Amino acid sequence: MANQEERPELSLAGSVRGMRRLLLVHHTPSPALHAMFTAVVEGATDPELEGVTLVRRAALAATASDVLEADGYLLGTPANIGYMSGALKHFFDTIYYPCLDSTRDRPFGFYVHGNEGTEGAERAIASIAKALGWEQVAAPVVAMGKPDLAACKELGGVVAATVMS
Ligand SMILES: Cc1cc2nc3c(=O)[nH]c(=O)nc-3n(C[C@H](O)[C@H](O)[C@H](O)COP(=O)(O)O)c2cc1C
Repeated sequence: MANQEERPELSLAGSVRGMRRLLLVHHTPSPALHAMFTAVVEGATDPELEGVTLVRRAALAATASDVLEADGYLLGTPANIGYMSGALKHFFDTIYYPCLDSTRDRPFGFYVHGNEGTEGAERAIASIAKALGWEQVAAPVVAMGKPDLAACKELGGVVAATVMS
């Protein structure tokens, strides 16, 4: 099998040379969350942001390899029973130890949608990401009811631009 010296176009993060990879891990169970997801994708795939590939994964399908291969992260979830969704929590449970100390200092941002109170979900995501050593590079987009899609688009764009830099 070719090692990295023989394949110089591959970086340690698995990116093709010159291309950076942004991983969007999301739980999208409703139209409101789908609208937020779509707007974040739109921002992160702006044609002006050359050099970034966006990889999208439903939270229940995302793997530790997805996380290791990425240069930065976007996370999206509803607030459920005062916390992030079980699906996003399962994602963190799956990747935490395999990615601990291998993904430190990588940029991330997140969005949350709820109808009653999102503080627990926001706190939990920030806390786990901090334990992983990820750097939050944009304020979270938090929606109650109708989401601010321009803010979602900006979130995607800011995190993608940070991954590029
Ligand atoms: C089991 C369950 C628990 C929920 N818990 C919360 C909660 O703690 N806080 C909150 O703001 N919304 C809560 N919600 C509402 C969801 O966040 C909301 O359904 C989701 O963001 C999608 O919004 P939509 O149903 O208006 O499309 C809960 C929904 C379900 C199904």
